[in-house]
Amino acid sequence: MLNWDEYNKEETQVAPAIKNTVPEAPKHVEPVAQPEPVAEASPATIGAGSRAEAARKAMETFDASEGVKELDEMHNGRVQVDDKAMINCKADLNQLVPFKYDWAWQKYLDGSANHWMPQEVNMTADIALWKSEDGLTDDERTIVKRNLGFFSTADSLVANNLVLALYRLVTNPECRQYILRQSLEEAIHTHAYQYCIESLGMDEGEIFNMYREIPSVAKKAAWGLKYTQQISDPTFQTGTTETDKQLLRNLIAFYCVLEGIFFYCGFTQILSMGRRNKMTGTAEQFQYILRDESMHVNFGIDVINQIKIENPHLWDEEMKSEAAQMILEGTELEIQYARDTMPRGVLGMNASMMEEYLQFIANRRLTQIGLDEEFKGATNPFPWMSEIMDLRKEKNFFETRVIEYQTGGALNWE
Ligand SMILES: [Fe+2]
Ligand SMILES: [Fe+2]
Repeated sequence: MLNWDEYNKEETQVAPAIKNTVPEAPKHVEPVAQPEPVAEASPATIGAGSRAEAARKAMETFDASEGVKELDEMHNGRVQVDDKAMINCKADLNQLVPFKYDWAWQKYLDGSANHWMPQEVNMTADIALWKSEDGLTDDERTIVKRNLGFFSTADSLVANNLVLALYRLVTNPECRQYILRQSLEEAIHTHAYQYCIESLGMDEGEIFNMYREIPSVAKKAAWGLKYTQQISDPTFQTGTTETDKQLLRNLIAFYCVLEGIFFYCGFTQILSMGRRNKMTGTAEQFQYILRDESMHVNFGIDVINQIKIENPHLWDEEMKSEAAQMILEGTELEIQYARDTMPRGVLGMNASMMEEYLQFIANRRLTQIGLDEEFKGATNPFPWMSEIMDLRKEKNFFETRVIEYQTGGALNWE
């Protein structure tokens, strides 16, 4: 648990590493004695019996031709753009260029430009508010705990799915480069939640076990896990219509539902708190995370649509109705989560407003992958969420925020 002194100590340790990239000139420089010239190490000075000598001898006789021949046979030499494919690609995956999927590379660059770390956010006001007797209502406290409980494990589920299942099966290096970037961002998100939980002195066992112990949280985690079990089996291979569809189901479950719907009630609640000047450090962490998550969703949608273009036989009527069903199941679970976390109106919102918002988001997810809207006329009751992360103008959002972040400006709520 962090206390004020530890927090301040940590600040002073961390801040210079982030802020000062240019070392300060020393105030007084002692004359430095010139070092004795050191004889270059040679095999004779290393000694014939040393491990280094054995390694040197082994490399003198190492024949690379066998390995290079094998790579040539496996991958057919230099990669041409037309050899590349999203799934089931036989071309060499070690050759990043020539680029075919520029959108994936661009997202890797944009994600990298957005880099941030949880310790950069000041948590002192949150610590004081959380520990004060009457700073927050019971309903507001429940919202903070439930959301840290859900997100602290949900991002691990997403990260595990990326590195243990998806990475191997998405067969082009531009997308893999972004998946590696996203994996790092998921680790940073888990770090951010842990940082909030520790700073606020919460019961870690209680929070990290909510995904097993609180039904409305557990249902969402269990629903996502259902779609990762089969494809995370190391013997699972794509290449048949059924296994390719299984991969597509995983992409829809994780990008359209987990990251695209399951995060939205919690993000809205915590950001609403920040707008009311409560838990502003936690809310700022969530705002940075939301910026990353928005790009994750866009990437996943692009991957799904590109796979559909390259493999139109996968996107048959059966798959379309299954995809819609998945998105609507996810919406239903998120509505249940909204009701559980908001038994009464709180923070200027209530469960039925959240239900409409989630229907609005669900319509967006359906149309993004080429399906019809489900909830006709659903509107966004939280237009300020669009200002923070405009669903239709994500790119503009990133462009402005990237510049703001890179110049060291803090996020604000306007
Ligand atoms: Fe995340
Ligand atoms: Fe994510």
